[in-house]
Amino acid sequence: MFQLQQQQHGPEEEHHFEQDSLPLILVPDESNQLGLPMQFPDIWLRDNCLCSECYLHQTRSRLPQLWQHLDTKRIRVYHLNIDQKQEILYIEWNDGHRSEYPFCWLRERDFSLANRSHYLQNFYRPEPRHWSGTEFALIQKEFLYQDLISNNDELQQWLYQLAVYGMALIKEAPLEFDVVRHLCNRVGFMRRTTYGEEFSVRAQPGASNYAYLAAPLPLHTDMPYFEYKPGVTLLHTLEQSDSPGGWNLLTDAYHVADILKQQYPEQFRILTETLVDWADIGNDNQLEFHNIWRSPVINVDADGRYVRINHSIPQRDSHFNVHPEQVRPWYEAMALFVRLAHEQAYEFKTKPGDVLTFNNLRLVHGRTGYADTEQNVRHIVGGFLDWDIVYSRWRILQRSQTADK
Ligand code: OGA
Ligand code: ZN
Ligand code: ZN
Repeated sequence: MFQLQQQQHGPEEEHHFEQDSLPLILVPDESNQLGLPMQFPDIWLRDNCLCSECYLHQTRSRLPQLWQHLDTKRIRVYHLNIDQKQEILYIEWNDGHRSEYPFCWLRERDFSLANRSHYLQNFYRPEPRHWSGTEFALIQKEFLYQDLISNNDELQQWLYQLAVYGMALIKEAPLEFDVVRHLCNRVGFMRRTTYGEEFSVRAQPGASNYAYLAAPLPLHTDMPYFEYKPGVTLLHTLEQSDSPGGWNLLTDAYHVADILKQQYPEQFRILTETLVDWADIGNDNQLEFHNIWRSPVINVDADGRYVRINHSIPQRDSHFNVHPEQVRPWYEAMALFVRLAHEQAYEFKTKPGDVLTFNNLRLVHGRTGYADTEQNVRHIVGGFLDWDIVYSRWRILQRSQTADK
């Protein structure tokens, strides 16, 4: 066992470190091919001590005791020991507490840029790749329903495809009402909305929702009027229209946002900053609802990444709570968005047994108009999943795959 001592401070010593000299513990790791040590801020190691006073194994969570007296200015390593053979880091702290950390646990949490990027891309969420309408054939992927039901690798690949490209087509599903439910149950569970769990898209006289007409359904995201908008839409074709219509349209609206950002920065700014009122008012199955939510068309996070697109002409409220001077510029920017979204759309017609699945926070989708006859009534069964549930299943599959290796 060899010893390495760093930053020894007596318990009573007082140190105030500047931001750029925060104590970093470097742990040599012989298994690292580049010969780079792992790196950990000392206070983080103290916070993440794995002893039974600090950590409850059965719930895999930190115990709160430390936080009752945590002195963020004074906490320091008093003595440090690295057992390279056993691959354990031992630390004695200046408050007398002792901790030990196995390398296998440390490696996964190494603060090196390489490890953090690896974790974020290969475990947190795969990086989305945006696509134009002409690239559709390159990115589109098909899965067989039975494979998804019986094979975890296929299931994982479907969820990965959804995360990266935002769409996947499932083929050869039985012509049964509960297919969408079975798929959702493979992932976790269905997301219920004011239209229930499964919903049937069929032309109905006196329909309460615009989609339940045979008319063309222009490009839209589903349910922009919810703060917690359903993340993934599944549309199972039970019966397709024999009429020339009933085609699906699909556009990666993150690609449209890229075009706006690069070529029309002012319109991009307007669409990311103007709060739009979205609404769905009515009832379904005796449930009365008044759903409204205010949110821009293009939503970006603090890092400038797209997190959500909202768009639906019928479900944009006539209430528009912005300064009147903002209105016409918003319409001009929105008209550009709609034009680009149509230019970038890919058109195809699903067959009975197809399940179209896509990211409802990112893609806009639509349908051309159609005509039913007595013998041929177009019937789509829809349902939703939430992204939290999708990513969770994907990570579990990802985890078990790495454990198998
Ligand atoms: C919808 C919808 C597509 C279709 O109901 O929101 O997008 O093919 N339907 O009918
Ligand atoms: Zn502890
Ligand atoms: Zn829709």
